[in-house]
Amino acid sequence: MELPRIIVAIDGYSSTGKSSFAKLIAKEYNLVYVDSGALYRGVTLFALEKGLIDETAGEIDLPGLQKALPELVLSFRNEDGNTLLYMGERCIESEIRSLRVAGYVSPIATIGFVRAWVDGILHKFGEKKGLVMDGRDIGAQVFPDAEIKIFCVSNPRIRAIRRAREMPGADIEEVMKNLLERDEIDSHREVSPLRKADDAIVLDNSDMTLDDQMVWFRDLVKEKYGI
Ligand code: DC
Repeated sequence: MELPRIIVAIDGYSSTGKSSFAKLIAKEYNLVYVDSGALYRGVTLFALEKGLIDETAGEIDLPGLQKALPELVLSFRNEDGNTLLYMGERCIESEIRSLRVAGYVSPIATIGFVRAWVDGILHKFGEKKGLVMDGRDIGAQVFPDAEIKIFCVSNPRIRAIRRAREMPGADIEEVMKNLLERDEIDSHREVSPLRKADDAIVLDNSDMTLDDQMVWFRDLVKEKYGI
């Protein structure tokens, strides 16, 4: 089904099913899918590999990261219908989903120059429109004029179970602790905090399957565009 060339912004807390939902929307409506969180995870992996995060003290070498960032090249590639993140020529999709990267990504995402760097990439996608992007600040900050804005929420335990499915062997309690810590940092950071845009529609998907969410989205599209 063809939508006009619009931007669909899907924001919300971690593991509220934003990316699975966004991917299905992209497939059904022929839109490009962009996972903005993957870029913050890519920067985090880069910082870890460059030795710019002291994992014992939990400290980030800010001047070092600012100096090194221009050499980082992140891009999305489509393989068999999946969008994968690359660092240069290397696929980093599974590494960016590790608990190690998850442990540092929120502090990395509080850094103003990192956000500006990621926003530069996101805005390039926005020029062509016709996309669905998920994140934390897409509707409120990155694309305030997005035609459709959705803010996903769901129960923390359900979120932890969903996230743990992506990490075989992970402990649900530990995953939930990490999620709640990230919520706290993401919502209270100074630069571009996680915030529902005033005109975003809240979707509590705690008791919804992805199919249910698609039914809900199709109704929304029908109401807005008559298709
Ligand atoms: O969606 P995710 O869990 O992959 O996001 C990883 C981290 O990146 C998360 O802690 C919040 C941050 N993030 C952000 O600050 N702004 C975005 N637009 C997307 C993600």
